[in-house]
Amino acid sequence: MSRKPKPAAPGAPLDTEAMIRVDHAGEYGAVRIYQGQLAVLRHGAAADTIRHMAEQEARHLKVFDRLVNERKVRPTALEPVWRVAGFALGFGTALMGEKAAFACTAAIEDVIDEHYASQVAALADQDDDLKATVEQFRLEEVEHRDTALQNGAEQAPGYRLLSETIKAGCRIAIKLSEKI
Ligand SMILES: [Fe+2]
Ligand SMILES: [Fe+2]
Repeated sequence: MSRKPKPAAPGAPLDTEAMIRVDHAGEYGAVRIYQGQLAVLRHGAAADTIRHMAEQEARHLKVFDRLVNERKVRPTALEPVWRVAGFALGFGTALMGEKAAFACTAAIEDVIDEHYASQVAALADQDDDLKATVEQFRLEEVEHRDTALQNGAEQAPGYRLLSETIKAGCRIAIKLSEKI
């Protein structure tokens, strides 16, 4: 899959409000996914690994909470949807087993890596603060993906279908949360 960030349309004004709205929604979704996974996988090495990633997501969310407030960004109206969908996705994949839980993380973080990279490219030399934040979080999301792969994500039953389905859902969620 191509990982090349999309260049910004020439002359198009940068909608940093939409960027913050969608990132805030995404980090909230991530927190909910891990809460769902940890509701099933409470103990053991996988739970410890997931807890570490969950702590980073909580920190990401806190930063975007602050940005939403400071810059008076309208948060997504879809928060109740992501609240339920995120938890259900985490809970459901964890019920399928640890490897499926990690397959979920690997799929999501793959899409988020792309998404954050395209924002960094679009920001170019604008809004250094936001750009540095997004780039730092992107690197942590990549770490999550690599951790998930090291923990056997690809050995989950039905990995390919599971992964492609989650990625497609994640891309739709991104599109919706930018606007709504
Ligand atoms: Fe995150
Ligand atoms: Fe993450």
